Amino acid sequence: MRFDVFTLFPGLIEPYINESILERARMRGLLEVHVHDIRAYATDRHHVTDEPPYGGGGGMVMKCEPVFNAVESVLGAPPACPVILLTPQGRVFTQQVAMELSQYPHLALLCGRYEGVDERVREHLVTDEISIGDYVLTGGELPALILMDAITRLIPGALGDPDGAIDDSHASGLLEYPHYTRPAEFRGWKVPEVLLSGNHAEIARWRRRQALLRTLQRRPDLLEKAPLSEEDRKFLEQLRKSPDESGA
Ligand code: ADE
Repeated sequence: MRFDVFTLFPGLIEPYINESILERARMRGLLEVHVHDIRAYATDRHHVTDEPPYGGGGGMVMKCEPVFNAVESVLGAPPACPVILLTPQGRVFTQQVAMELSQYPHLALLCGRYEGVDERVREHLVTDEISIGDYVLTGGELPALILMDAITRLIPGALGDPDGAIDDSHASGLLEYPHYTRPAEFRGWKVPEVLLSGNHAEIARWRRRQALLRTLQRRPDLLEKAPLSEEDRKFLEQLRKSPDESGA
């Protein structure tokens, strides 16, 4: 997977991709990240990248020219890959969207700043717009990192464990079951017996039920869309009737 990130603050992107799983994925040749400073593509003497909006109203708007120059110099015109603008006006980023985008070999991420970008960038350069949630940040750099992180961990081989992303919260449409590791008892708090039993079928059943229980308690909205078996439905029915006697 290759990402080209276009930003006015390249220094915000580099530290995160140089650590941990993203760094490892790069070392393994699974991930390539190219960060481009939009300011370097402004052709005027002062490298101006933003101006006040026509019609007044305060704030600053990112200019067309440096953005078009940057993206088209690197990727050609028109670019062959999706060009994604990070903006609170975009479609909301979910695990589903991460899975969809992980199918592309190459994505361009354009980080907005100030009040936004000139509308002509949206209309004639950008092919997709993504928001990471209903709140407003100072720019698209953190959202771009979030996209790259969520997408990279879906690339086969990027996580140490080949099944690492399968049970993730949201991947199956449910929240993930609880995890425990050694010691088996800490301050008198014990790890559930079934996890120590070595009985893999029982463990799988317990985990599935915990995932259903947790989703029902915390995010019941997810159950409407999650793929559920007949057994799952019966268990949920039982939980709704008598939450304490479900055996989860
Ligand atoms: N830029 C500012 N806020 C944002 C958000 N919530 N999502 C994506 N980009 C943004």
